[in-house]
Amino acid sequence: MRTLFYSYIFTALPWILIVIIMIDVDTRRAIQRRTHLYAVPHARTERAALPVIYAVTPTYTRDVQKAELTRLSNTFRQVPSFHWIVVEDSQARTELVSRFLARAGLRHTHLHAATLLRYKRPRSPRGTEQRNAALHWLRGNRSRNDSGVVFFADDDNTYSLELFEEMRWTRHVSVWPVGLVGGRRYERPLVENGTVVGWYTGWGAGRPFPIDMAGFAVNLQVVLANPKALFKRHGSKPGMQESDFLRQITTVRDLEPKASNCTRVLVWHTRTEKVNLTNEPDPPLDTVTIEV
Ligand code: UGA
Ligand code: MN
Repeated sequence: MRTLFYSYIFTALPWILIVIIMIDVDTRRAIQRRTHLYAVPHARTERAALPVIYAVTPTYTRDVQKAELTRLSNTFRQVPSFHWIVVEDSQARTELVSRFLARAGLRHTHLHAATLLRYKRPRSPRGTEQRNAALHWLRGNRSRNDSGVVFFADDDNTYSLELFEEMRWTRHVSVWPVGLVGGRRYERPLVENGTVVGWYTGWGAGRPFPIDMAGFAVNLQVVLANPKALFKRHGSKPGMQESDFLRQITTVRDLEPKASNCTRVLVWHTRTEKVNLTNEPDPPLDTVTIEV
């Protein structure tokens, strides 16, 4: 009886093992099929739907320019769905910036707009004509079908990668803290129940939007829907660039707080020290001309 039982087991065991292996292989294939069916097309549609971040950078010829742009490009290259609008403060696009952008590995638009000489003085707003040239380009080259966010990224600031993911889903106008600005370690919007109710700011608290240029982003459709909204040159007071622009497109109550209800600093208003060139020979002594 026992021998009969063992002979049954020995004959059946290989078959049982084969069935187990086949079931295992089949379920694995099914899982693979499912991940293929759902994961891949989903990832594709998400990529296609990712709003484009249009970063507008005014820039001007000076000794540190290429260094500043290099630092920015190394950050921006890591941001998905990104379009850099570089606007030179010059009569024409320069060779240096053209060459730089050609090698930067970034989707970009290269514009120029010269600031009138009479506005090139201390306490006069900077980057005004350049940002307006970018707004003009966006209005002429983007439409209701394009989803995107517009951000004004000066060439001397420091940007974390997280900042771009915070601003990407801006519905109207979003805001967040800025580090090292206004004579303080940081400035920030004060938020209560998801609404901006005031400002922690170092100066000019009476401004309608006491915020730095690096502290907000605007949905592309808001830029297109307000075709007259521009940065102000005539009669513009120091520190009023941001307020003059924002009051044309939004109200404080409508601002969308980002970066954990405006409690995290993800961008810094760093400023580059004026470079020391006291030992630079004039005329140059080197045997070759080198772009710096
Ligand atoms: C602060 C704000 O952060 C700026 O956004 C604002 O434009 C500026 O004040 C202002 O007073 O208008 P700040 O560091 O003092 O910034 O200004 P800069 O960084 O020197 O200039 C802002 C942008 O304009 C930079 O991207 C810079 O390259 C550009 N710029 C500056 C020009 O295109 N032309 C110039 O002659 C000077
Ligand atoms: Mn600056």
